Amino acid sequence: MGHKYVIANWKMNHCVLPAWTQAVAMALVDDEVSAVLCPSYTQLAAAQMVLQNTPILLGAQDCHTEQKGAHTGDISAEMLKRSGCSYVIVGHSERRDAHYESDEDVLLKAQAALAQGLSPIICIGELDEERADAQAQAVVSAQIELAVKPLLKDYADEIIIAYEPIWAIGTGKVPTIQEITQMHELIKKMVGNESVVVYGGSVKPDNAREILALESVDGVLVGGASLDAQAFANIIRAAS
Ligand code: PGA
Repeated sequence: MGHKYVIANWKMNHCVLPAWTQAVAMALVDDEVSAVLCPSYTQLAAAQMVLQNTPILLGAQDCHTEQKGAHTGDISAEMLKRSGCSYVIVGHSERRDAHYESDEDVLLKAQAALAQGLSPIICIGELDEERADAQAQAVVSAQIELAVKPLLKDYADEIIIAYEPIWAIGTGKVPTIQEITQMHELIKKMVGNESVVVYGGSVKPDNAREILALESVDGVLVGGASLDAQAFANIIRAAS
């Protein structure tokens, strides 16, 4: 099946780390599967300790564009690196929406992450009305041009691109296998095969196997179902 990434985005939810980690680590029996946990900032220190003797890697959910300075309440990529992170999600649609983040901001965040040796998980995806207007490919292409293309020359093999149709996030609606394949093939054509491209949006244990079996899908970014240790463990099993 090729190497697959299964990434948990806990969003603004607090979970019981030891119980989750134990169930997930037990499911991780295949070297060809990487699991990444992105908890809230306040759980990073505890997560670093709990994940220490497991193969599960640590990530965060956002970082600032600057490495330090007068930015009350913000967190820099350097701080995340020091907290044991290897990954950071940037440009999630919830942040683009609620915090008015533009593709330019997302690029700067990805660059800040890469400067610290963190791999950015760069989220892109279209709205439902854009898909209805047959604009999905144009929207995603534009996001890649602005937020991803400038990174490719130096960092193609260090970035993860997460295709997350916004209408599929937290809704239980999932694009068809054909729609996922079409978009992933377009993205791969634009960025090349060195970059990892994962799918996100209502991934659950019962649809994960079919999605993960696609050659153009290098993994999944999981929100809601990642809060349930058994559900997330079963998604990992579906990647094996
Ligand atoms: P969901 O979230 O799995 O709950 O749809 C995915 C995401 O927002 O990354």
